[in-house]
Amino acid sequence: MADKLYDLVVIGGGPGGYVAAIRAAQLGMTTACVEGRGSLGGTCLNVGCIPSKALLQSSELFAEARDHLKDHGVVLPKVELDLATMMGRKNKIVSDLTGGIEFLLKKNKVDYVKGWGSIPRAGEVAVASDDGGTQTLKTQKILIATGSESTPLPGVATDEKQIVTSTGALDLSDPPKKMVVIGAGVIGLELGSVWSRLGSEVTVIEFLDRVLPGMDGEICKQAKRVFSKQGLKFKLNSKVTQATADDAGVTLTVEPAKGGAAEELRADIVLVSIGRRPFTVGLGLQELGVVMDNRGVIQVDASYQTSVPGIYAIGDCVPGPMLAHKAEEDGVVAAEIMAGQSGHVDYNLVPGVVYTWPEVAAVGRTEESLKADGIDYRVGKFPFSANSRARANGDTDGFVKILAETRNDRVLGVHILGPLAGDIIAEAVTVMEFGGCAEDIARTCHAHPGVGEAVKEAALAVDGRAIHI
Ligand code: FAD
Ligand code: NAI
Repeated sequence: MADKLYDLVVIGGGPGGYVAAIRAAQLGMTTACVEGRGSLGGTCLNVGCIPSKALLQSSELFAEARDHLKDHGVVLPKVELDLATMMGRKNKIVSDLTGGIEFLLKKNKVDYVKGWGSIPRAGEVAVASDDGGTQTLKTQKILIATGSESTPLPGVATDEKQIVTSTGALDLSDPPKKMVVIGAGVIGLELGSVWSRLGSEVTVIEFLDRVLPGMDGEICKQAKRVFSKQGLKFKLNSKVTQATADDAGVTLTVEPAKGGAAEELRADIVLVSIGRRPFTVGLGLQELGVVMDNRGVIQVDASYQTSVPGIYAIGDCVPGPMLAHKAEEDGVVAAEIMAGQSGHVDYNLVPGVVYTWPEVAAVGRTEESLKADGIDYRVGKFPFSANSRARANGDTDGFVKILAETRNDRVLGVHILGPLAGDIIAEAVTVMEFGGCAEDIARTCHAHPGVGEAVKEAALAVDGRAIHI
């Protein structure tokens, strides 16, 4: 490898990096992918999307068996939790999938270089392996895809045992009796749901006045109601200023967000989930003069090139939502542009999904943002309680909400709280990619009985002509 000149060296083997490497190789570029953690797939496959979804699925089945199967006339003698098996299943899914990525790199003739990369200068990547060895890769172009890490909270030092980030919360050996989650965002609600279903008393402390801030306001309100009914406790407008661990648990100091009298809470486990920040430590970006903003987010132009020619960046370490599918889109388009093709990602149309049950899914504009921009819109809503498949399945919480521009009926935003919301949002994304209208969805034949019919009914409701409500 020492004398080889690569067309592209990608630093980071997550969904941004490995996808970019494969696409670059497909386009004929000689490519290497440098990854330090010992397995490919990044945060997403190792400690993010996949293990969390495995535990969400297992815990949902456990709660369903314990609390709801009897409603179907399915009577089980006793439902017991075997957490070690649940964790083992999750770990196997992770290792199978990360191994699958290694196979894909091989298949596409991408060199997988194990170790931590840094950039001494444009055109070179130095790789330090865990056994102390180093090597230098020479390359025409470098793509930084080093992802993100949990944002620390001052006064609340994580130890991944009692005070954990999502990584520790995916690997607890017992359900804590009491768990406090700091931050009612995506991680807080997903992992809070997992442990609540497995028997923990979960309190979620949120700085703002709502759960899932940034989502459509009506969805936030209804989601909070549904999750409260499931047993999650919420303390909104509150901040944790300190957490101290001892042998018996953790003591938290909690204050009103705007200041005021503090109170103390006890918990066995505290999950800190107040957001993520780019991870670029050790790359040598400052020395190179790569421009970043004050949060460490690498600034790139429309072709994903940083301020240093020949050095590109994608995924969680550049602006935009920190989502695996967004990182993948970045990776594909960046590789295509490097190979002389054109391409772009419409960042307004990146769907966001929260994999609780019911799920929350959204794409495009919220009602609040349309109001703020003075755009005239019409709203169509349809509740899952009026959808026959949702009723047959016993999944009647939630609704579909479509926002369409008044003057031309163009769909501007779709927000769903409900069963399989994360899958049925794909229809809305496709319609919006084509610049479609609510009428296009309303006139599309949807299979019956399906939860997707709620999307069609919401589209009909934009024009005041829903049939089933
Ligand atoms: P990453 O996946 O973080 O990959 C970066 C890789 O680079 C890492 O493997 C790291 O080890 C490596 N690296 C870093 N520095 C170096 C270096 N100097 N040299 C070599 N290697 C290096 N997103 C979704 O879309 N859906 C979900 O359901 C979802 N669930 C999530 C659940 C959790 C608990 C978490 C934490 C995140 C979740 N995400 C989800 C977000 C998603 O994981 C990220 O958006 C995505 O992984 C970003 O991809 P990336 O390639 O930019 O970075
Ligand atoms: P988040 O940004 O979704 O939520 C953080 C929450 O913490 C916000 O509600 C915020 O107001 C609150 N907060 C911030 N500071 C606080 C404080 N001091 N005290 C109390 N609350 C505070 O971040 P989260 O949940 O950590 O997830 C990080 C990112 O990971 C997400 O933004 C998303 O990009 C990605 N992710 C995506 C998933 C998915 O797509 N299903 C699942 C999990 C993570």
